Amino acid sequence: MHSSPNRRHIHSSPGDNLPPKPSNPDPRTNPAHALAPKDDVNVGQKRFADFDLGGRVFVVTGAAGGLGLALAEALVEAGGKVYCLDRQPHPDEQFKEAARRVLPEWGGSLVYRQQDVQDTAHLDALIAEIADENQRLDGVVAAAGIQQVTPAAEYDEHDVAHMMAINYTGVLMTSQAAARQMFKYRCHGSICLIASMSGTIANKGMLTPVYNSSKAAVIQLARNLAMEWSPIRKDGTGGIRVNCISPGHILTPMVDKVFEELPDLKKKLESENMMGRLAKTTEFKGAALFLLSGASSYMTGSNLIIDGGHTSW
Ligand SMILES: NC(=O)c1ccc[n+]([C@@H]2O[C@H](COP(=O)([O-])OP(=O)(O)OC[C@H]3O[C@@H](n4cnc5c(N)ncnc54)[C@H](O)[C@@H]3O)[C@@H](O)[C@H]2O)c1
Repeated sequence: MHSSPNRRHIHSSPGDNLPPKPSNPDPRTNPAHALAPKDDVNVGQKRFADFDLGGRVFVVTGAAGGLGLALAEALVEAGGKVYCLDRQPHPDEQFKEAARRVLPEWGGSLVYRQQDVQDTAHLDALIAEIADENQRLDGVVAAAGIQQVTPAAEYDEHDVAHMMAINYTGVLMTSQAAARQMFKYRCHGSICLIASMSGTIANKGMLTPVYNSSKAAVIQLARNLAMEWSPIRKDGTGGIRVNCISPGHILTPMVDKVFEELPDLKKKLESENMMGRLAKTTEFKGAALFLLSGASSYMTGSNLIIDGGHTSW
């Protein structure tokens, strides 16, 4: 793990003779002009040029199955080389099916690597290895996450720490490891954090106080990373856009587990959105491709809520 000299600024008070505290780069003196689309490439040259990921390299965490894998597939279909990281020793059967669907003519590939996002030293080293192998890193989707249904009055402090270690610290450390490589290779990439509509609302029928708070923290984290990393500094580092996707309820192994514990919950959740059904993982592919590609070149610090209208009434 890297130790930063800026750690000294924690709790420092004005009189203690330290150098000035670090601040975000001034956007006006470090403008991200290089992220703007180029008319000779992006306008009228070929179909969907803004969405083309040919030759680009991505990392997706939590991608052994579920939502992470669907988002990884979106990036592969657009030509990206995608490294799927997950704590499981072997990916789900779904992953093998997804890998079989990859057509060589797309130019991309799906690669699996076992990685627990709580092992931050190894996570940093693995993401560095991926970037060095390809001499670039263009983006990361931080989708690894866990869920726990427990009333607040009964929550164990170790369970709180475990949830935050994966859902919050894991997301920050994944973003940090990726940003370091983007700085190193002067890649103006994109980071997509998987939050949840549960970061903005409490869910009727489901007692998930810590999960919901962890997702609120992720939404807030995206704004702060965007402020630090979006401008392009004079040395060429930066130009990294950071956004969130906040899904509504999706049918995934995580939610299936909750339905086993609370059998009546599925009907309740279906009735809570304007579409009367839960989402499929593939309904978020377009959003991931949008955020990881040049199609969203002017978007940073945002939270894209895709929830069948759940939070709109
Ligand atoms: N399913 C939903 O309704 C829903 C809604 C909103 C947001 N989300 C978020 O989407 C993301 C994906 O969830 P999902 O529903 O596909 O769940 P899932 O359980 O199917 O997938 C989560 C994946 O993350 C992996 N993972 C968990 N802890 C890890 C760790 N420490 N290191 C590495 N990998 C780890 C798991 O092995 C699993 O493959 C999560 O962040 C979740 O909070 C899900």
